[in-house]
Amino acid sequence: MIGILDSGVGGLSVLRHIRAQLPDVGLAYLADQAHVPYGTRSLAEIRQFSEGIVRFLLAQGSQIIVVACNTASAAALTHLRGVFPQTPIVGMEPAVKPAAAHTRTGKVGVLATAGTFESPRYASLMQRYAQNIEVLEDPCLGLVGLIEAGNVAGRETAVLLRTILSPMLAAGVDTLVLGCTHYPFVEPLITQIVAQSAHKPDPFTIIDPAPAVARQTRRVWQENHSTQAPCATNEVHLFTTGNAVQMAALTKQLLGETFQVETAVWQGDILIPA
Ligand code: DGL
Repeated sequence: MIGILDSGVGGLSVLRHIRAQLPDVGLAYLADQAHVPYGTRSLAEIRQFSEGIVRFLLAQGSQIIVVACNTASAAALTHLRGVFPQTPIVGMEPAVKPAAAHTRTGKVGVLATAGTFESPRYASLMQRYAQNIEVLEDPCLGLVGLIEAGNVAGRETAVLLRTILSPMLAAGVDTLVLGCTHYPFVEPLITQIVAQSAHKPDPFTIIDPAPAVARQTRRVWQENHSTQAPCATNEVHLFTTGNAVQMAALTKQLLGETFQVETAVWQGDILIPA
């Protein structure tokens, strides 16, 4: 089984690609909706939550972990690999490297969270890959909350995205990095806003790293488990530390499929099934 975590429903944008890559493998997904959004929390706090969630996912039978959250990866990936040395852990980072290789105007937009932008991991990423390009960053304050509320196409979300994207497009950005796993769910809206812009670049590329993360997950899974039989079950187990009924409705809206959602409860630093 593969354990997947995020602060909320964002990681489902990664889960759908992992499922396509590894249809025979069971998945356990934990949405820490009691603490969403992670993006404005301290790195230390996110590290503590992530460790508790990984323990929970291992207790459910996960053999590898995917941190399907850029903010948690930025804050906690090194820490988690130190605490769980026996467990392969796949993380994420904003796709600055492919964006730098792709842009023709030399101008790249990165949409992530404040936590990701403030992390040493992001600074190192910029140092390595963004020397010869201009990067315009936006922490998209409020966007994760709107997506968690199911508002992926409404007016409020459109107004917020237009405010974020207009200066980027006016500056000549032709490549946009979705550096938060929640944001692929508003990609259709982004595409629409860009198409309506007076500064629409041609071509305009949006980079969602989820397919690449899913391919990496398949490689890591096969390296570690190729000699074992596939999981006895290929079920998808969804857990939330928030409201299970709301999460089930939101998952149906975002993935177009019905899943049962179970509740998990924080007791101090420990997460247990309800
Ligand atoms: N989905 C997350 C990410 O990829 C975190 C969003 C949040 O909770 O702020 O960064």
